[in-house]
Amino acid sequence: MTTRFTQSSANSGKWSKQLTPWAISYGGSHKLGFNLSISQFKHIGVFPEQSSNWEYIFSALQRKRNSKALNLFAYTGGASLAAKAVQSDITHVEAFSQLISKAKENMESSGLKDVRWMKEDALRYVQKEVKRGKKYDLIIMDPPSWGRGPKGEKWKLESQLDELIKGVSQLLNKKAYIIVNTYSGISPEQLKERLENHISFGSVECGNLIVEATSGAEFSTGSLVRGQVK
Ligand SMILES: C[S@@+](CC[C@H](N)C(=O)[O-])C[C@H]1O[C@@H](n2cnc3c(N)ncnc32)[C@H](O)[C@@H]1O
Repeated sequence: MTTRFTQSSANSGKWSKQLTPWAISYGGSHKLGFNLSISQFKHIGVFPEQSSNWEYIFSALQRKRNSKALNLFAYTGGASLAAKAVQSDITHVEAFSQLISKAKENMESSGLKDVRWMKEDALRYVQKEVKRGKKYDLIIMDPPSWGRGPKGEKWKLESQLDELIKGVSQLLNKKAYIIVNTYSGISPEQLKERLENHISFGSVECGNLIVEATSGAEFSTGSLVRGQVK
């Protein structure tokens, strides 16, 4: 069965056909389960381009004992589940209860448990963690161009990204890993430069986040920077 989404405004549109919810299993280095359904925002409940990050998380953390990971703007929880699959102590930060419920269902479908769920504004959570002196071995962040925290806090990527990076830089342990995606106008090189203004990397890579069609066609969805700090 196929369906096609036609966008009518920046945030909504229509599907040509309704589909009953369905489930998929990601069969990479570790199995992850996702419960999917079509939404009026075009999303279906998984971002396949993120699978390259899940593999990065598996290999970064699987030999690290008692690692702590933080997933900001976490939505479906793909990265949270990847960290949990390799026994990391993961904190999942998302503004919306409904989306946290969906991520919990994905955790259950992945045969995992004990993700720490935080319904919080991502930037405020980072600032609170800095005050509490917390440190992490992996921080993942996938901030949208604009958004809202649970109490209506405004998030605007362009004006707040540097503040977020500055906060995150204070939460990184030595040799910690960081993964950052953005979807709006910031090139991979610019994103890397903005990170390097606050973070000293031992190794770092940047490029486009790619969805690959079965035909082999590639579709870039945004910018990606990831690496290990000194
Ligand atoms: C681009 S999506 C992240 C997708 C994620 N990488 C995944 O694989 O599911 C951005 C998420 O950030 C959330 N969000 C937006 N503003 C937020 C805020 N101020 N604090 C916390 N989460 C926020 C949105 O609800 C959305 O779920």
